[in-house]
Amino acid sequence: MVTASAPGKLLLLGDHSVVYGHPCIVTAVDQRLQVTIEKNGKDSFHLSAPDLGLEAYTKTIGELGEKELPKSVRFVEMLYKRFLDKHPQDHGINVTTKSEFESGFGFGSSSAVTVAFAKALVSLYQIELTNQELFHLCYQAVLDVQGVGSGFDIAAAIWGGTLYYVSPAKVVETLEIEKLPLIVGYTGIKADTPTLVRMVAAQRAKHRSYYNNLFAQASDLVEQGKEVLKRQDWKTLGKLMHHNQSLLADMEVSSLELDRLIDAAEQAGSDGAKLSGAGGGDCMIALAESTVTDSVSKAIEAAGGKVQNVSLNAEGVRVESSTEV
Ligand code: PMV
Repeated sequence: MVTASAPGKLLLLGDHSVVYGHPCIVTAVDQRLQVTIEKNGKDSFHLSAPDLGLEAYTKTIGELGEKELPKSVRFVEMLYKRFLDKHPQDHGINVTTKSEFESGFGFGSSSAVTVAFAKALVSLYQIELTNQELFHLCYQAVLDVQGVGSGFDIAAAIWGGTLYYVSPAKVVETLEIEKLPLIVGYTGIKADTPTLVRMVAAQRAKHRSYYNNLFAQASDLVEQGKEVLKRQDWKTLGKLMHHNQSLLADMEVSSLELDRLIDAAEQAGSDGAKLSGAGGGDCMIALAESTVTDSVSKAIEAAGGKVQNVSLNAEGVRVESSTEV
C-alpha cells in the first residue's frame, strides 16, 4: 500500500501566454491532495474519492477510458490507462483520495490528484522515473482529458517551490526564495479553465498580431519577474503583477468580480494585484508587505472576496508512506 501527496499551485505571472510557448512563474500551494493505492488481486480499478464527490467507482481494466467518465475520475482513470499501456500489470488496484483543498478555488486539484496518483503508482511497482518522465506521463493524461493546457500546474505539483516554467517542461527552473508576501482572495465564482483557454485561442485566431503582442509583453514581465523574485524586490514584483493584470484584461479574461477585488487590494496599499490562472473567477493574488497585510485582506473581504490562508513555495510531490500488506 502506498500513499503519495502533491500540492496545488498559483500562477504569479504569465497566465495564458504560457500556453503559447512563453514562460510563466508558478508557486506551489501547501494545500495537498493525497492518494492511497493498493493491489486488489482482481481485474478491476476501484476508486473512492469522497472529497471529489465520488464514493465507489469500479471498472474492469479493459474498460478503462471507455464511456463518458465522471469529471472527478477522468484524470485518475486516464493516467492509469496510460500507465498500464506502458507498464502492464496482471491485477488491478484500489485507489482512495483525500483532499485538503477547499473545493473549487482553482488551486489545481486535478493536477495534484494526477501527480500524486502517478507517484503512488511508480512507487508501488518500483519503477524509477525522473521528474521529467513523471511530468510527461501526467501531462499526457491531462491532454487526454481536457485537450489544452501548458502543464504548469503539473510541474508545480511535481517539483514544488516556485518555478520559472516553459511548456511542456522544456524549462523548469527553481527560484530560490524564502517567502512570498501574497494575499489570495477567492471571488466565489468557479472558472472553467479549458473553456477560457479555448476562448483566448478563438480571439487570437481573429486578432493574431494583437494577441501575440500581448503575449510577448507578458513574456517580458515574466523575465523581469524572475530576476526581481531572486532579489526579493516585492515593490517591483507588485508593479509587474499590476501590468500583467492589464494585459490579461486586454485578453478579455478578467471579470467584474476579479476587477473589484483587485482594485480594492490596490487601493488598500497592495503594490500590485492580478487574477491567477485562467481568469473568469477563481482567485486573485495581491502583493502585500507586512505593513499592509491587514488592510489589504480587509479590503478584499469588504469587496466580496474570501481571503484564503495558504502558504506558498510548498514542497512538491512526495511519498507519504509505503507498507507491505
Ligand atoms: O485556471 P488555472 O489555475 O488552472 O490556470 C490556467 C492557466 C492558463 O495559462 C490559462 C492555462 C494553462 O494551462 O497554462
